Amino acid sequence: MALADTTGTNRYLAATRNPDFTIDQDWGSYTPAEHERWDRLFDRSRSNLSDRACDAFLAAMDTLKLSERGIPDMARLSDRLEPLTGWRVVPVAALVPDDVFFDHLANRRFPAGAFIRPEAQMDYLEEPDIFHDVFGHVPLLANPVFADFMQAYGKGGRRALDLGCLKNLARLYWYTVEFGLIRTDAGLRIFGAGIMSSTAESVFALEDPSPHRVAFNLERVMRTNYLIDDFQKTYFVIDSFQSLLDDCYRDFGPIYSWIGAASDIAPDELIESDRVVSCGTLAYFHDKTHNHKAHKP
Ligand SMILES: [Fe+2]
Repeated sequence: MALADTTGTNRYLAATRNPDFTIDQDWGSYTPAEHERWDRLFDRSRSNLSDRACDAFLAAMDTLKLSERGIPDMARLSDRLEPLTGWRVVPVAALVPDDVFFDHLANRRFPAGAFIRPEAQMDYLEEPDIFHDVFGHVPLLANPVFADFMQAYGKGGRRALDLGCLKNLARLYWYTVEFGLIRTDAGLRIFGAGIMSSTAESVFALEDPSPHRVAFNLERVMRTNYLIDDFQKTYFVIDSFQSLLDDCYRDFGPIYSWIGAASDIAPDELIESDRVVSCGTLAYFHDKTHNHKAHKP
């Protein structure tokens, strides 16, 4: 599905697409202002994440030389990444159809949006741009265990499509790859790309008393709805990338056979079987509701 470009800022929507939806990044066409925007996003995020991101993410930023100035050239970045885990980063114009996305992941290719967000949307935009996709997602593809998890997810995606259970599988991606937290000896740390690429959410996810933080459980996550346009009401915490891979490296068919009939769990709901890491006050969300109502006539 290609998103409409309501801001007029994604000039790649007109680019010629290959059958697998990849395009030419045309790196030489980025303007000095776009490179400078990347640098500001990078500098702000790196200092913000220095004691919030997991060690594997921080180490990979150096290994992959992401701190080089300017928007990364995906081909050059891939040449550094591929010897480590076999993954490459491939440019796309916008979100790609689900089956295409899964096929890329199953073959160790990560599709990344080529455009960079406009100044007016420095901290949040709905459509993934190169800062979210490359800064947020690519570092952990240098981790061998996480790299295996991402490929397994891609392989599982085809099966979920065939069984009509994509909704359940997508929740796994959302609450781990995008918004996951990980337990470490130094405390909770971030590994989800959706948090990494938002300075506001990186503080909120780790430090705000509002959201619940709950130990990861595969079936529980697959039943849980999520918010797409605000901070999460619940963040799930994995013990390690290996435990995540171990939990997920199996046939989901038996789970899909019952989970479709099970009730969904609301984003702010805790259930009896939860291992709660911290019970949220939900104050941020309550305040928003009240403020919103207060402005209504
Ligand atoms: Fe993402």
